[in-house]
Amino acid sequence: MAQIMDGKAYSKEILAQIKLKVEKLQKKPSLAVILVGNDPASQIYVSNKEKTARELGFISKTYRLKENTSSNELKDLILNLNLDEDTDAILLQLPLPKHLIPQEFIELIDPKKDVDGFHPINCGRLLTNSSPYAVSCTPKGVIKLLKKYNVEIQGANTVVIGRSNMVGKPLSQLLLAQNATVTVAHSKTKNLPEITQKADILISATGIKGLVTRDFVKSGAVVVDVGISRDENGKIKGDVEFEEVSKVASLITPVPGGIGPMTIAMLMENTLELSLNNAKF
Ligand code: GUN
Repeated sequence: MAQIMDGKAYSKEILAQIKLKVEKLQKKPSLAVILVGNDPASQIYVSNKEKTARELGFISKTYRLKENTSSNELKDLILNLNLDEDTDAILLQLPLPKHLIPQEFIELIDPKKDVDGFHPINCGRLLTNSSPYAVSCTPKGVIKLLKKYNVEIQGANTVVIGRSNMVGKPLSQLLLAQNATVTVAHSKTKNLPEITQKADILISATGIKGLVTRDFVKSGAVVVDVGISRDENGKIKGDVEFEEVSKVASLITPVPGGIGPMTIAMLMENTLELSLNNAKF
């Protein structure tokens, strides 16, 4: 049976350490979250972010904008937050309503305040190993959890399922920077199980419930589940068939309680880092 990689427990340790650091700071880190519209999952994510930030002693402001917010209104808010000296970190919650194109707004965020690391400057710096101001929270959380459990990344055959800008692409860059051999698979990949069976480390980030079954996984592989979706009863489910895959994997993350809490912890870490960085200028 696989050992569980307990992201919930580890994230609590990380948050406790951040809280201690923040207690010693005169200027508290401040996070601005922008939520446009009524996406139910986003409402929950944003409330959790706000609550965690406050528990750590951060200043947390959430800007809730209506579904039919115009492009100009959203632009104005971002530009104002860029100029606001009391805002260290800006998070634009995705997805946006259909009439707003995410990349247009991501590119407006000051890269020094881009807590998600989604701005092209930060993505480009990640690609070129040249000190991004922030790195995307979920991929950063994946690497941190693997390290906590002493998983050898260097030289490992690593397969990432998913090529999103939020997870798959930045995660593949982080793994490469750690000298892994990286394969990125996606919805058009042929013979997916054949490819995933070669993985020493298999990471799934598709949001397709139960995609990864026992036959996808090499005996002794490390399996990380980044997927979050809900079943017919509203219960949170990952990409991985946990019960059966646990029988072949050596280490596995649960859903919930794996990568989800690590993502929030990394958001808080990024906010603190941007705040310390911004204080220097
Ligand atoms: N929506 C789901 N996850 C995320 C995230 O990490 N950042 C942002 N901005 N939106 C999200």
